[in-house]
Amino acid sequence: MDSFVETQDKLPIGQIPAPQILGIGGSPRKGGNSDILLQHILHNIGETKQLRDYQFQSCSGCEKCRKDKICTGLQDGMSLLYPKIIEAKGLVLVSPTHNYNITALMKAFIDRLYCFYNFDNKNRPGPWSSQLENQGRKAIIVAVCEQENKQDMGFTLDAMRLPLEALGYDIVEELPVFGVFARGKVKERKRILAKASDLGKFLEQAVS
Ligand SMILES: Cc1cc2nc3c(=O)[nH]c(=O)nc-3n(C[C@H](O)[C@H](O)[C@H](O)COP(=O)(O)O)c2cc1C
Repeated sequence: MDSFVETQDKLPIGQIPAPQILGIGGSPRKGGNSDILLQHILHNIGETKQLRDYQFQSCSGCEKCRKDKICTGLQDGMSLLYPKIIEAKGLVLVSPTHNYNITALMKAFIDRLYCFYNFDNKNRPGPWSSQLENQGRKAIIVAVCEQENKQDMGFTLDAMRLPLEALGYDIVEELPVFGVFARGKVKERKRILAKASDLGKFLEQAVS
């Protein structure tokens, strides 16, 4: 069997990704509102992964990725997700608001995408780029929260949009969903669910 580093070496970073869509769910709550929204967006168009099903930790800042161009400092569940991220031109991130922000799971996931940056080794702070940029990558971000107003959703959308844009994704749509608290409550919001399905179809076209 290939060693971990050899396996990571074979990842097709830098190649134009396939017109596939990967959905990433950031809620720790199984069967909750994020799960339902993601199901509607990804229905028949791609693959969904729930971060709660993976054992992984947040970035340790070891900076080995500066040389290796993928995370080699940690060997955990992210090794299963990296190939999927690299291969899929379309990405959907869904997170509930937890304390005005994305969940800890989603934050850890996004921090682990740090390995895709290229940094200038001589000058810090200095120029940087992304191994995922200029490949036509497109993303949709979705946030769901209990309260009814933008302030109480806090930074949830920003916390997904800014890093994805920095990594080279074009954010083609954003969907903030307000006013749902109980597990699965969003099932009653038929217009929101229809909108979620439309977003998925839109992304499918955008990456094809
Ligand atoms: C730890 C925690 C923190 C939360 N913080 C907020 C918040 O800051 N603002 C808000 O409107 N809702 C907040 N909520 C409510 C959730 O965003 C809401 O219940 C959402 O529908 C959960 O989505 P899920 O079912 O996909 O987990 C919080 C819930 C939890 C468990």
